Amino acid sequence: ERSQAVRHLGRACQDWGFFMVTNHGVPEDLQSAMMDACKELFGLPPEQKAEFMDAGPMDPVRVGTGFNSAVDGARYWRDYVKMFAHPELHCPAKPDGLRGVAAEYAARTRGLLLELTAAISESLGLPAGRIAERLDLGSCFQILVGNHYPPCAAGPDDDDGAVGLPAHSDHGLLTLLFQNGVDGLQVKHDGRWLLAKPIPGSFFVIAGDQLEIVSNGRYKGVLHRALVDRAQARMSCVSLLGPCLDAVVKPVPELAVPPLGLEFRGVKYRDYMEHQQSNKLNEKGALDLVRVQRHILTDTLCSS
Ligand code: OGA
Ligand code: NI
Repeated sequence: ERSQAVRHLGRACQDWGFFMVTNHGVPEDLQSAMMDACKELFGLPPEQKAEFMDAGPMDPVRVGTGFNSAVDGARYWRDYVKMFAHPELHCPAKPDGLRGVAAEYAARTRGLLLELTAAISESLGLPAGRIAERLDLGSCFQILVGNHYPPCAAGPDDDDGAVGLPAHSDHGLLTLLFQNGVDGLQVKHDGRWLLAKPIPGSFFVIAGDQLEIVSNGRYKGVLHRALVDRAQARMSCVSLLGPCLDAVVKPVPELAVPPLGLEFRGVKYRDYMEHQQSNKLNEKGALDLVRVQRHILTDTLCSS
């Protein structure tokens, strides 16, 4: 059964970069408690969140609107809270219950994400621990994000209307996401945007840029975006697993395919994340910066 599950996982990563996980062992009560705590935080008066509102992308707690309002001018219809959760949990003091819930939620989802990583490593024909060793996941980085998309009558079909989060891939290795029952997450597949509809209680799993790098492009960080509902507030909770912030992420050499070799240059995850989070979200622009320029390589190969 396990080897079949690993094969399915490999196919999902290769064909979609996106899948759902059910029977994941994270209690539904804990999912709801996490969602409720984020909702409570968004409802707090601004003065109780002010200290986190001019935080930068590498500050451990950040509350804001849009993606990065310093560069996108709050063009996107979204409130968010971002909390670094590993190696150390950082969390606003209010609401009261947030810290306890976030600690438990981070630990349980981290366990799940690490297990998925081991199975994904196997699906690439590698030992289960190979990706973890490469990315130093013993000291992994994890971030929890709460997203709140208030309803907007301008609607997703109106080009000048409300987009919650524009097309992007995630900077980490894997992202786990669940939502409050209001759809809006879209995934790009074969050039088309498809709406993701969850099985109740499941998590969405989104392949991120570090998976694309470490797998030498075998698995791609998938483009996705969030649309805003016309009538209902949408919320999502994200738990993102990344390499150790100090790890220099490079493809696993066993996955090099001659004569092309490695598709990506090594990049320190901290620098990658800071770059992606400090600039306008631009599809896969951050990843393209570390991609080996094929035409140059081909020229070199041809002339040598
Ligand atoms: C994200 C993201 C989508 C959503 O936070 O990176 O893609 O549905 N969120 O909230
Ligand atoms: Ni995302």
